[in-house]
Amino acid sequence: MASAIRPRPVQLFSSPCLAATSATRTFTSFARSSPVATTAAAKSASPSVAPLRSRLRSLALQWTARASRRASSTSSTGTVTPISHPIIGKWFLFSSSLVFGIVVVGGITRLTESGLSITEWNLIRGMAWPSTKEAWDEEFNKYQQSPEYKLLNHNITIDEFKNIFYWEWFHRNLGRTIGMVFLLPAIFFTFTRPSAARVANALGSSTANPLVASRWMSPGVTKAAWACCVLVGFQGALGWYMVKSGLENDIMELNHATPRVSQYRLAAHLGSAFVIYVISLWNGFEVLRTWSNVVKNNGVNADRVAMSKVSADVLAKCRSVAKGSHWVAGLVFLTALSGAFVAGLDAGLVYNTWPMMGDRFVPPAQELFRSIHKTSINGNAVMDPIDLTEKVTLKSLFENQRWKNIFENPVTVQTDHRLLAYTTFAGITTLWLKARRLPLPRPVHIAAHGVLGVALAQVTLGITTLLYFVPIELAAAHQGGSLALLTSALWLMHKIKHAVPK
Ligand code: HEM
Repeated sequence: MASAIRPRPVQLFSSPCLAATSATRTFTSFARSSPVATTAAAKSASPSVAPLRSRLRSLALQWTARASRRASSTSSTGTVTPISHPIIGKWFLFSSSLVFGIVVVGGITRLTESGLSITEWNLIRGMAWPSTKEAWDEEFNKYQQSPEYKLLNHNITIDEFKNIFYWEWFHRNLGRTIGMVFLLPAIFFTFTRPSAARVANALGSSTANPLVASRWMSPGVTKAAWACCVLVGFQGALGWYMVKSGLENDIMELNHATPRVSQYRLAAHLGSAFVIYVISLWNGFEVLRTWSNVVKNNGVNADRVAMSKVSADVLAKCRSVAKGSHWVAGLVFLTALSGAFVAGLDAGLVYNTWPMMGDRFVPPAQELFRSIHKTSINGNAVMDPIDLTEKVTLKSLFENQRWKNIFENPVTVQTDHRLLAYTTFAGITTLWLKARRLPLPRPVHIAAHGVLGVALAQVTLGITTLLYFVPIELAAAHQGGSLALLTSALWLMHKIKHAVPK
């Protein structure tokens, strides 16, 4: 019996999105290791077997027979393309929702000026909430050595200190939790295989070969999961590197210095959180979509089928919208990074007017590119006074590191953020207008409306945050809004990718 149904290796899917994550595994090896095959061979079922087991057994027999039929009718190249189990997609989406949460909590931590309240980094010991008076005194004593206490908070009471301590402690513990939420399942899903019963259950009545679902994760998704684990570890280290920059005492030497973390490190920390979010969210979308195409719809992608009827020139326009969606996501990412510089330099506290900055749309070059007197290690350049008679040329930007204004002058940083935000918004509107006129599938149109709606909300939030001098609620919502916008841009990218053939 076993030899009669032994199939030859079979190429099952040739979709480009699957090809990217292709791996080789022959059905024969699956049959050898899978309980499905052994079940098929074991014909003498005990009368005491429970109804569920016999149902699973009959399902297993059906798969084996189906796979065998396919194998005998396919010209084989010896490879199959495994896909990831949908539970992986859900895990990625859940993890990305936690990353979204920590970005907002991180924003609140910064806005409540809590980020420098814990002056040490201890992975294990730092998890505990100080519970005794002695423990609190110790933490408070350490805080009293920091420049933030000396320059800004020397009147703080222990109760007020507990308040700011809470946000930083919560932020760090949420980071630890996210680390575990990525790492523990990654270990489990890499080193175990789903049981035949689970594969049977997941495939249901699909005609897909069970071999494609014989692993939890496809090789490409395994790499993405481990990349997230490594990046979360790196993110923790980067977070501490950022906090350390706010504890350096050299800031005390600057006139009118404000103790805060380096805006460069803040931007790197925020950017790295966005990268983790993007990898996790994208893989979540892709895993669920691939599963749905291959298993639920038995290899039929309805959106692609609809698109196959359009003419070549319309298809070319659709492809250009698909390309545009990549640009839009990139622009959102860049605008968000520039926002981190605004936040890091408290640049939302200058020019609190809109659309004008003072009486101009953009401040004069002499104000945007002031000559730099001295740079500090913490990214706070000391600038010469503004000289409106001075001529600022392109060449002069490279003298005395004047270009550093782009990252260290609050006026320039805010101007950059505004201009990037307008560009992003213009890009999104153009894409929406283009998509509207094309016969793209409905889910793509819905996604395009979604991006435009979220962009409008985000720009409005940015403007109100500025006009009201950066209140915590608005600024935190604006920070969350940037991730919501990135989410909608990725959703559009994902929808178009699966609708428009390359
Ligand atoms: C595509 C649109 C936009 C995106 C994606 C975006 C993104 C961001 C991000 C990620 C931050 C950093 C938040 C933080 O680290 O706490 C930020 C800060 C800020 N943005 Fe935007 N922004 C956009 C549009 C605007 C606009 C149009 C304005 C005003 C004209 C604006 C004003 C601000 C201000 C004032 C801050 C500093 C808030 C703070 O100190 O927490 N943004 N933005």
